[in-house]
Amino acid sequence: MDGGPCGERPYDPDDLPDGLLVADHAGKVTVFNTALARLCGADPAAALGKDFRDVLPLRDADGRDWWKCTDPYHGLRTRVRQPERCLWLADGSEVMVTARYVREPRRGGDVVRLVVGVRDGSARARQERDRADLVSTVAHELRSPLTSVKGFTATLLARWARFNDDQKLVMLETVNADADRVTRLISELLDVSRIESGRLEVHRQVVDLAAAARRAVAGRVAAGDPEDRFRLTVGEGLPEMWLDPDKIDQILGNLLENAVRHGAGTVTIVVEPVSSGVTDAGPWGAAVSVSDEGEGIAPELAPRVFRQFWRGKRRGGTGLGLYIVKGLVEAHGGTITIQRARQGGAEFRFSLPAGTPDFA
Ligand SMILES: Nc1ncnc2c1ncn2[C@@H]1O[C@H](COP(=O)(O)OP(=O)(O)OP(=O)(O)O)[C@@H](O)[C@H]1O
Ligand SMILES: [Mg+2]
Repeated sequence: MDGGPCGERPYDPDDLPDGLLVADHAGKVTVFNTALARLCGADPAAALGKDFRDVLPLRDADGRDWWKCTDPYHGLRTRVRQPERCLWLADGSEVMVTARYVREPRRGGDVVRLVVGVRDGSARARQERDRADLVSTVAHELRSPLTSVKGFTATLLARWARFNDDQKLVMLETVNADADRVTRLISELLDVSRIESGRLEVHRQVVDLAAAARRAVAGRVAAGDPEDRFRLTVGEGLPEMWLDPDKIDQILGNLLENAVRHGAGTVTIVVEPVSSGVTDAGPWGAAVSVSDEGEGIAPELAPRVFRQFWRGKRRGGTGLGLYIVKGLVEAHGGTITIQRARQGGAEFRFSLPAGTPDFA
């Protein structure tokens, strides 16, 4: 342990971000680092020389004394470690605990040292809660369109002859729209899971951003929005952009849809180069802003819009659109921000680096 370049120890247990307890062959504590002291609210100096069970009492989910259950010094001689598990400290806080039983001889010998790692469990507990929330939100989102599909098909099957063609058409149109909603939600969820697991792949090729913006507008117009709702401005000197064309279409489609659905008035799209800040270095990439003349988003709500399932007053969407947009922009190495547009509405602006071919 001693012998660093200046006579220091090469490492100090107090440098560890996680709690660490080491006990000797008799179970007396030899190391009790500051992170562990912080977790337990104990005095590290007072813990030294005490029995490990007294300074680190742990309970399992059923409230049983964990050390009694495992008994490191007298349990199975083949056991050399405890896998990570969730336990509770005396004050009821949740911790993740792992342990190693150092034996001499290594196989089947007595325990000469017990090394216990303790990590704060609140982040994991929060993650689990978030996951449970996600499951219930998804179940709910799937159930409402499916309830309507089931309701209308059951009604039509039971009373087919009683409805006229117009009534049947309305019901089938609703069923069709709800089926589309389920399909869309499922593909959004797949995107979310790819973003979360870092499996989102960007297949780069040269993309004409201005043409992509024009295509996105044409798509909205084809879907029934009046052409004069959109204004597109393209700045001079855009660099050659290496991007994933499908993902760019998805980003622009989402932002335009939001501007039309949640905003109002004219939707202005500006595509312009972004400089690297270094003279003569040429543009770093490009930025696209999409702004509208609606109510906009209150500044205190702005950080929330990129969260999963967050949506404002107006229902209809699932609240995944902007979360996915942010994930797609970041997968390109870009950033997205929201601010109040000059015209008063919301302005979303994303910047993307010019990028290089995949094989470069
Ligand atoms: N241009 C805008 N003007 C005002 N509010 C907006 C605008 N864009 C987004 N919002 C608000 O942000 C929320 C989240 O947007 P997001 O695109 O993530 O979800 P959504 O449009 O409700 O559903 P989805 O896109 O998943 O169908 C919206 O519900 C809306 O309240
Ligand atoms: Mg949306």
